[in-house]
Amino acid sequence: MLFNLFKKKDKKPEIDFSSIKTDLHSHLIPGIDDGAQDMDESITLITRMMDFGFKKIVTTPHIMADYYRNTTDIILKGLDGLRNELSVRNIHVEVEAAAEYYLDETFENRLDKGDILTVGGKYVLFELSFVNYPKNLFDIIEKIKDKGYTPLLAHPERYPYLSSAIENYQQIKESGCYLQLNTISLTGYYGKLTQKIAEEMVDNILVDFIGSDMHRMKHADMLYQSLKMPYVHRLLTEYQLQNELV
Ligand SMILES: [Fe+2]
Repeated sequence: MLFNLFKKKDKKPEIDFSSIKTDLHSHLIPGIDDGAQDMDESITLITRMMDFGFKKIVTTPHIMADYYRNTTDIILKGLDGLRNELSVRNIHVEVEAAAEYYLDETFENRLDKGDILTVGGKYVLFELSFVNYPKNLFDIIEKIKDKGYTPLLAHPERYPYLSSAIENYQQIKESGCYLQLNTISLTGYYGKLTQKIAEEMVDNILVDFIGSDMHRMKHADMLYQSLKMPYVHRLLTEYQLQNELV
């Protein structure tokens, strides 16, 4: 019995991410946010993602007025450097860049100016405060749509003020905002409550995209572990995820 338990734990996952092809949330441009800090770390994380079956990576550095004052220009220059290094090392994977916009005033200004990096030419990935419910959430969703983009909320399962009721997600989705679950939420990496609401979102068919939100090696390890979780198995084999369309 004990032997069987160990055997099960050590088993390799039966599936990988090749069925969805694309990851659209990560922090892999070196040295510009709290993700990969240098080129070697970026390349290591990218090659691990390739091992897990990804064929295309849309990396999304933070843009946040208080902490990460990135710009379109900084991100695109970083992307150039990263692509160049991948080519020098003979690593063949499609890498694009967008951004993970924090909902603050500078985000609204960027929307007004049309200074936005989109995922797949369409989706605007944005994140919220982890502490306070943003009272202008639905106004911002409308504004993103008015400007001709499609809003995509990053890791909705991680905001405590939303995760108390599944109806909150239904309401956001009904407003025309897409939802991107962090795959490793389903492992319990961010805590049991986050895992539970993530499972509920899967059960209620509320997940449009899954993302690695890869910052560092620990996330790669958890992403590998996630492939053994029944909920992730369901997402990858029975669900209509939109990742591959990006
Ligand atoms: Fe992120």
